[in-house]
Amino acid sequence: MPFSIDALTQALQQAGYFADRRLAVAAFLALKLQRPLLLEGEPGVGKTELAKALALALGRELLRLQCYDGLEQREALYEWNYAAQLLHLRAAEGSGSAAEAEREVYQPQYLIRRPLLQALQAPAPGALLLIDEIDRADEPFEAFLLEYLGEYQVSIPELGTVRPVVAPVTILTSNRTRDLHDALKRRCLYHWLDYPDRARELAILRARAPAAGEALSAQVASFVARLRSQPFASAFQRAPGIAESVEWAKALVALDTLELDPDVVSDTAGILFKQREDVAALTRDLAGSLLQPQEDGGQDIRP
Ligand SMILES: Nc1ncnc2c1ncn2[C@@H]1O[C@H](COP(=O)(O)OP(=O)(O)O)[C@@H](O)[C@H]1O
Ligand SMILES: [Mg+2]
Repeated sequence: MPFSIDALTQALQQAGYFADRRLAVAAFLALKLQRPLLLEGEPGVGKTELAKALALALGRELLRLQCYDGLEQREALYEWNYAAQLLHLRAAEGSGSAAEAEREVYQPQYLIRRPLLQALQAPAPGALLLIDEIDRADEPFEAFLLEYLGEYQVSIPELGTVRPVVAPVTILTSNRTRDLHDALKRRCLYHWLDYPDRARELAILRARAPAAGEALSAQVASFVARLRSQPFASAFQRAPGIAESVEWAKALVALDTLELDPDVVSDTAGILFKQREDVAALTRDLAGSLLQPQEDGGQDIRP
């Protein structure tokens, strides 16, 4: 485990992830205090990516549970492989006692392990468990998770209690489509992940779209930062995330763009936005005003 915040920041960067100081502190504390880390933020700000990069940085296996409405324990924790059990019972028919056959089908080889159970059984150095988009799961699932996160052990009636080999490092993410329970939040360290500032976005662009060159990348970083801030942000339903700005930089390179102008911006609006209305809203005129020099003369348009 990285022994300092700086070392962790470095290790994340080597894994391709640029974290600011506060995020690095939150991740460091999650490791040090062995607490789950809850990351909340708009889509596309780098929540899922942090978990992936952290797994790489720590050399831990990434186990991902994607949440959705209707997600059930058996898909998250474990279930018995009924088909295989049935086959076993069929094959055993006639030979031996029924009770014995029944005991045989509740053996580990008939257990289908899902991420939450796998996370307990991962060999050293342990797993990184990503519980992605927990806000999509329903409340009963959240309640079940609360118990799991509190004890980090699972009781399987037929087999007994499974305790972790090494406690997993756990990251939960939420796009905040609904509020999470206070009880769940209390179990976790909390970090609100915001859009990157201009410098960090530029660093990401340099790493992920190197062909774009310095001048164009700087323009892209300023432009998306402006799109995400008022008054422009209210013209759109959803601001572009980091993935969109990286894609956009690549697209601009593919179009041999050296410098942004209103035409190329409105022509490529479909890369910045994924909503029809938002694409339509980024007109040539609006692009023109977004490209105007700023009144305060500064480049960093974020407050
Ligand atoms: N801090 C970062 N450093 C490097 N790349 C990033 C960073 N944040 C986001 N990205 C890029 O943006 C993409 C979207 O991020 P993602 O983690 O999927 O967003 P979220 O989970 O918050 O919706 C990632 O695939 C990655 O390419
Ligand atoms: Mg995500």
